[in-house]
Amino acid sequence: MAGTTLLDVKGVETYYGNIRALNGVNVTVNQGEIVALIGANGAGKSTLMMTIFGAPRARAGTITFAGNDITQMPTHEIARLRIAQSPEGRRIFPRMTVMENLQMGASLDNLQHYAEDVEKVFSLFPRLKERIGQRGGTLSGGEQQMLSIGRALMARPKLLLLDEPSLGLAPLIVKQIFDAIRELNKSQGLTVFLVEQNAFGALKLATRGYVMVNGNVTMSGTGKELLANPEVRAAYLEGGHH
Ligand SMILES: Nc1ncnc2c1ncn2[C@@H]1O[C@H](COP(=O)(O)OP(=O)(O)OP(=O)(O)O)[C@@H](O)[C@H]1O
Ligand SMILES: [Mg+2]
Repeated sequence: MAGTTLLDVKGVETYYGNIRALNGVNVTVNQGEIVALIGANGAGKSTLMMTIFGAPRARAGTITFAGNDITQMPTHEIARLRIAQSPEGRRIFPRMTVMENLQMGASLDNLQHYAEDVEKVFSLFPRLKERIGQRGGTLSGGEQQMLSIGRALMARPKLLLLDEPSLGLAPLIVKQIFDAIRELNKSQGLTVFLVEQNAFGALKLATRGYVMVNGNVTMSGTGKELLANPEVRAAYLEGGHH
């Protein structure tokens, strides 16, 4: 149902040893939304995304997904609830082909839809179909990003977590990736939680956004509100797009 809370992060604290990287973070993602999390290097964006996926674990607070408390759940069980992730740096399998990488993303529960799901990925990213037998490690950065997202989609996620999909990519490829995310959201109602350094692109794409500074969420609003916010503009958009 549109509008219901799918992911609810409440008061989450995550530590690396004695160092606290998240200081009581509150974030919600509703069914059908694209939510963007922006912030500077080291703010804790990836830590939040990884904490949602169970590693590292929250030391305080709760994370609820579709009514299930997943705060202490092992990652493989979280994945079975149909959260899928394209992590920072893409992390595809470099020695496996495009096809094999996609196979790795399909969960055992989904094998009966396998052929259909592969076709869906190929229609979203035709470039991958052309490179079906090529090893992941020899793909361009943009193609690797497409493969990373495609592999996550093979799990038929209810929530897709994307960590910096635009990192290091040329503007044209960034546009293709963002268009694909928009299309998945529009046509399939896929809910997306997106971490981005590219604040302009992410906030344009997003229904709502959050700003993170030093492990705290300092601002939130609709994508439009944040794009128009003078503090956001000064900190994340100056010198870029207007
Ligand atoms: N494995 C780790 N061990 C120790 N400290 C870590 C580890 N991973 C991250 N940190 C620290 O936690 C803080 C938050 O890092 P995180 O990677 O979440 O930031 P980020 O917002 O994703 O940054 P970026 O935009 O550069 O990817 C940083 O100070 C970082 O040095
Ligand atoms: Mg990061």
